[in-house]
Amino acid sequence: MARLLSGIQPSGDLHLGNYLGAIRGWVAGQRGNDAYYCVVDLHALSGDYDPHQLARRTFDTALNLLAAGLDPDECTLFVQSHVGEHSRLAWLLECVANLGELRRMTQFKDKAGESESARVGLFTYPVLQAADILLYDAELVPVGDDQRQHLELTRDLAQRFNHRYGPTFVVPEASVPEVAARVMDLQAPTRKMSKSVSSPLGTIGMLDSPAEIDRKVRKAVTDTGGEVRYDPDAKPGVSNLLELLAAATGASPASLAGSFTSYGQLKAQTSEALVELLRPVRERYVELAADPAQVTAVLVAGAERASQVAGATFERASMAAGLLAPGSEPPRAQETAG
Ligand code: AMP
Ligand code: TRP
Repeated sequence: MARLLSGIQPSGDLHLGNYLGAIRGWVAGQRGNDAYYCVVDLHALSGDYDPHQLARRTFDTALNLLAAGLDPDECTLFVQSHVGEHSRLAWLLECVANLGELRRMTQFKDKAGESESARVGLFTYPVLQAADILLYDAELVPVGDDQRQHLELTRDLAQRFNHRYGPTFVVPEASVPEVAARVMDLQAPTRKMSKSVSSPLGTIGMLDSPAEIDRKVRKAVTDTGGEVRYDPDAKPGVSNLLELLAAATGASPASLAGSFTSYGQLKAQTSEALVELLRPVRERYVELAADPAQVTAVLVAGAERASQVAGATFERASMAAGLLAPGSEPPRAQETAG
């Protein structure tokens, strides 16, 4: 049994990349493990967001995750801001992290560029993410390919903290799926499918109707030449479709390639497979949306369970860092040798 933690921002509608890159792994990981999953609303504050919509989006993201197959009897699902230790541990870790390593984060560079008005919260975003993970002593973190660098930073911070203050944190590892760890935009297959890109035809929503899925797959940009071959560099569009079909069917993208003689055939089968893959998610969403009180109850219970684990870890970390425990006298000062 392993301890798992992962998080997702409530920053827009969930898409097929989120589902295949991360959420499906969360669902698989909840069986037989001790899994914690959170909607990271504090992270969403680091970008442009509408305060009138954030609470609704946070709730709806949780609903989406339940629809995708998270089972509150098998895992702990909660909202990050409901567990105060996330922000508190982030500060301890900020005092261990250094400027240079945060400046190297590609996600920050992509979003902030050279802008002096970039938010500090965007800069320290990966430290808050490290706090999310380390609070739960997570051994495995199921995420898509784009999170590898943040996981490396988390490992560095855990090791540095342990080295400086004594063994405190478990050093986690990323768990990235073999296929579809980086789903590309159907209209621009050299760009990652994302919530923020205004490419409605390029992004398949996790709750898209069968007709919408079919239309988007059929309109997907393919490559010159008519040969169906798995070659992400030379044939990014076709390779992306092969990855999607592979992820939906369990076969490998390269082995699937040989069974098609035209792009049309590949698109037809991919569309059909994706429709079937997402059908149960859509159906459960409709059921759950009719009973929002159930979602609220899940989040209340989740925050309670998460707080217990997070509280204990935070206490351990703050004692290690030398903070005075509330309601107690300081330990005897240790003489420094020499
Ligand atoms: P985000 O939407 O950035 O909050 O990401 C939530 C999770 O989905 C993270 O684990 C990401 O790595 C994963 N993810 C996001 N976009 C993609 C994509 N295009 N392909 C695969 N995984 C993705
Ligand atoms: N940064 C992650 C993303 O954009 C979201 C995230 C926040 C996360 N905290 C986390 C992922 C902890 C895994 C573990 O996708």
